[in-house]
This record gives sequence, C-alpha cells and structure tokens, in this order.
Amino acid sequence: MSSDLSVVILAAGQGTRMRSALPKVLHAVGGKPMLQHVIEAARGLSAREIHVVYGHGGEMVRSALASQPVQWVEQAEQLGTGHAVSQAMPAIPDHHTVMVLYGDVPLITVETLRRLAEIAKQGLGLLTTHLPEPQGYGRIVRDDTGRVLSIVEEKDATEAQRRIQEVNTGMLATGAARLRRWLDSLDNDNAQGEYYLTDVIARAVQEGVTVETTHPGAVAEVMGVNNRVQLAALERDYQRRRSEALMLAGVTLLDPERFDLRGELEAGQDVVIDVNVVIEGRVSLGDGVHVGPNCYLRDVTVARGTRINSHCVLEQAEIGAECRIGPFARVRPETQLADRVHIGNFVEIKKSQVAEGSKVNHLSYVGDSTVGRGVNIGAGVITCNYDGANKHRTVIGDDAFIGSDSQLVAPVEIGAGATIGAGSTITRDTPAGELTLARAKQKTVQGWSRPVKKRE
Ligand code: UD1
Ligand code: CA
Repeated sequence: MSSDLSVVILAAGQGTRMRSALPKVLHAVGGKPMLQHVIEAARGLSAREIHVVYGHGGEMVRSALASQPVQWVEQAEQLGTGHAVSQAMPAIPDHHTVMVLYGDVPLITVETLRRLAEIAKQGLGLLTTHLPEPQGYGRIVRDDTGRVLSIVEEKDATEAQRRIQEVNTGMLATGAARLRRWLDSLDNDNAQGEYYLTDVIARAVQEGVTVETTHPGAVAEVMGVNNRVQLAALERDYQRRRSEALMLAGVTLLDPERFDLRGELEAGQDVVIDVNVVIEGRVSLGDGVHVGPNCYLRDVTVARGTRINSHCVLEQAEIGAECRIGPFARVRPETQLADRVHIGNFVEIKKSQVAEGSKVNHLSYVGDSTVGRGVNIGAGVITCNYDGANKHRTVIGDDAFIGSDSQLVAPVEIGAGATIGAGSTITRDTPAGELTLARAKQKTVQGWSRPVKKRE
C-alpha cells in the first residue's frame, strides 16, 4: 500500500488573513513551519512521492524547506482545490493511490492518515468530522441509508444542507487513474467560479465507486489556520499534547501550560522542569536534571543530576553531570562543561572547555578558553579574548586560582596551580605554582585631606 502512495499537499493559497510578509504555510507551530509538519506526517506514511503545490511566496516556501524530500509543483493561478491537485497529477503514475493534504492543516497525525489510506483501498476515502458550528465548511450529503452522495460547499448549499453538521476536512485518498479522469471532467460552474476538488465525490458516486469515510482522532488534527488567532489556538493544542506525552514519560512539568517545546526533548528519569521554560532544537536532559523557572535551552545536552537555576540561557552546549548553573547564567555555543562544574550568577561563557570541578561563580566573562580541573575563577574575572580583529585563547592550568577582578589578556597561559592576585591585568604567561601579581602597589598618602565644597 504505502509504497504506492503519492501525497499531494496543497500550499498555494495566499493566506491574506495572516497579514504577513511570510507565506502562511511557513508560519510555525511548535517552532516548525506548518508545511513541514504536514510533510513529516506524509513521510510517516512512507509515501513514495510527496508533491507540494505552491503559489504565493513560492520562492520563500521552496528555500525555507529546501532540504525536504519533496517535488515542487507550481500553481501559478489559484483556480480552486481541484485545479491545484491537477497540477501534480502529470507526475503521478496511474497505479498509485493519491492522498490530498493541506499545508495549513499542520496537526494531522500519521495514525489518522493510515486509516484514510486503508479505506481508500475500497474506492475513495474521505476524512470528515462533525462540528456543532459547521459554517464555512463543505457539507457531507448522504442518502437515507447513510451512503455518501456528494460534498456541497456552503456557498452552494440549500438551507437544509447547511444544517448538516458533518463536514469535509478536505483530506481524501483514491486511485490516481480515476482521480485524473474525474479532475479532467471538473468545471467551475459554481458560486465561487472555482474548480472544486470536492466535486470528485459526486463523480465517484456516479461511477459506483464506494466512498468510505473516517474521522480524525481529535478535531485539532483537521483544523486549518487562516489567521493568527487560529495559529495561537493550534500552538496551544500542540504544546498540550507534547507536555502530556512528556509527563506520561516521567517528566515533572510544574505547570504544563507554562512550558514550550519547539523541537525535540529527550529526558531521563525524574527530570523536573519549572515554569516558563522554553526548549528549542534538540535538547537532552539526563536523570534527575532540574531546570529552574524562566530558562531557555537550545541544542544542549545536560548530564545526570545537574541543576540549572532560574533565568539561564544555554545554547549549543554540553553540560556534564552534577553541575550547578545560574541563576542568571549565559552559556553560549561551543561550550563544554565537565562534571561538577559551577557556573554562577551573571557569568557568560563562550566557546570554552571547563574541566571537572572548576568554578566560575560570579560576574565573569570566559570566552575562547580552556580551563583545567579544580580551577577557581574569582568574581569579575574577564578573559580579554578579542583584540579588535582576532580572537585568542586563554589556557588555565589545573588547580589555578584567579583572583577577583583580574583580566587575562589572550593569548595567555596560566600555569597549573598558579595564583593570580586580585585586580591583576595579566598579559604574559604565568608560571605554575607561583603567585603572580600585575597591579599598582598600594600606597598611603600621609596628610592628604579631602576636597571641600567651595562657597559662592
Ligand atoms: C475547502 C473544501 C471544503 C472543506 C474546507 C476545509 C473545496 C472546494 N472545499 O474549502 O469542502 O470543508 O476546505 O477547510 O475544496 N488551495 C490551493 N490552490 C487553490 C485553492 C486552494 O492550493 O487554487 C489550497 C489553499 O491554500 C488551502 C486549501 O487549498 O490550503 C483549501 O482552500 P480554501 O480556499 O481554503 O478552501 P475552502 O473554501 O476552505
Ligand atoms: Ca479554508
């Protein structure tokens, strides 16, 4: 079945009501363009070919999704859903099953589509749902025995037909040869002057082809996005589903309504995530990791038992086990922290490796640095890694102690076990095991008196 499936995704509509420079199907749900969600659902079905019918903002859509394994089909003029599907038909062989999906209906699941593919084997499969307020949708017209006769669009419907609550989701599947024949026979003699895909239902009935229906697991699966209010509603639904899956897998979310996952999260046992945490890209949290409130994590790996306190931003980093990060720490790309490292408040660390047990606890900038084990970097230490043109590295040996408010002007190397006196500006390598100071000597000016304010 699946190996002979061609999916056609309609994505040519302009989406005027989004009021956006971005084509509608590129607006994101869960951090991913809506169209990509649909492509991934189609891939989940192991479709042999996926055709995306694009129109408005086509170049933007194509370049945003250039890495996706799809065939791009242009629909230069939007003459209706039937016309849109026709554009893809020349590339689809007769023996394939064709399934039609929509680039602005992102939450459709593979399970629902499998059922649709299954019923299509009998003739034509149609995905329908019941809505208490069916306004705007095509209605499913059935005979007395419950057999589907046709779909009638709201604008072409009679009073009685408008009361029907079973609506067309738009998604359907059937054999390519007959679909081609039916599409070729469509006209645009209707209220909207469009070639309606929905008219193929009546064609199927005329030819005695069985029309079977199935329904989505949840209504949100078939909800389309026309404006940003609907986009936000789908985003919430999507987040709720992902949160539930995480909680059922053993993650504590202190408030699932205040957690956003815009990517993939792999979590060990007894991970706790406090409120207002945003996760993007690929994040992995080991057993017992605790993420405090108001943190942002993108593409990070955090090993077992590490605690990330509130208000931290971590991007493209690898954090070892039993570390303490934050509050208010920023861990920037290409940083690796080994086990039991402490990164404290108002510390920024970039493109650096910090070995086991080292501490940078207060108000520091550590960039382009290699820090050994057991190092203590005092408050306010800055690695001066940039000379205005190039970046240079700072190397700090094991067990070194860098006194508070020191500057390490790179390239520079601090020997193992070295101590740097507070307030030093270090411009040359310092020997291992010795105290190095680089600051003005303290003096006391005898008899000095404070200035006094002059009288007018
Ligand atoms: C369509 C269905 C209706 C169904 C509803 C579900 C038809 C005639 N009607 O109506 O029965 O209840 O969807 O939402 O099919 N598109 C193109 N090219 C076109 C026209 C549309 O790519 O020439 C795309 C749009 O971008 C959109 C989708 O097809 O993603 C549906 O088009 P739209 O005009 O919104 O159809 P509806 O009137 O909502
Ligand atoms: Ca629509």
